[in-house]
Amino acid sequence: MEKAFSEADREAVYRAIHERRDMRHFVSDPIAPPVMQRLIDAALHAPSVGFMQPWRIVRITCAHRRAQLRDAVERERLLTADALGERRDSFMRLKVEGLRDCAEVLVMALMDGRENHVFGRRTLPEMDLASVACAIQNMWLAARAEGLGMGWVSLFDPQEVGALLSMPVGARPIAILCVGHVEHFYDAPMLETEHWAKRRSIEECVFENEWPSAKD
Ligand SMILES: Cc1cc2nc3c(=O)[nH]c(=O)nc-3n(C[C@H](O)[C@H](O)[C@H](O)COP(=O)(O)O)c2cc1C
Repeated sequence: MEKAFSEADREAVYRAIHERRDMRHFVSDPIAPPVMQRLIDAALHAPSVGFMQPWRIVRITCAHRRAQLRDAVERERLLTADALGERRDSFMRLKVEGLRDCAEVLVMALMDGRENHVFGRRTLPEMDLASVACAIQNMWLAARAEGLGMGWVSLFDPQEVGALLSMPVGARPIAILCVGHVEHFYDAPMLETEHWAKRRSIEECVFENEWPSAKD
């Protein structure tokens, strides 16, 4: 078997990477169950530190529960705005979640009992979080390939959301994911279009042998 993918397959992988967007505008048509299954399966095939698989996924199917999550996000959105000082008003103009209209809401959490896993985490305990982020990115790319949008919402108090979803002590929600059909994908990150931030160049992010001194 050829080690490299065919050119078309390679292009498809890079296309998913470049055309994936954090989406906040959805149309509420349901996602077919086999597609949803594939997205979950993509998440569960992510790499994880020491093969720990620290991800747990709570699928929200109850409208009342979804409304409670929206309320939690709205509360945190306002607190974030207050914490932003002079950028408050431009933040308040941004759309930062699509919880009302998306077809599916998934809460991604770190499992409890993570202290028993030391491999790769003795000096870097946060590698559990990195592993769940890999699962989310897998799902994000798979969703894009399926023609579905996904949005990562991190504006919430993890204690509050953990309690709301009856999570055990030690478990911790890290993302509310909105997944669903979209009218179209944004051409560029919405935060770039809205002049909140722009993509950094290779020179700004990639160094050789050492971190450059400030004057370079
Ligand atoms: C860890 C993480 C948390 C995020 N939380 C939020 C959020 O709470 N609300 C939001 O609108 N976007 C959130 N995003 C999406 C980013 O705003 C988005 O990835 C970034 O603006 C670049 O846009 P793109 O994903 O379309 O390339 C989050 C992304 C990551 C990776």
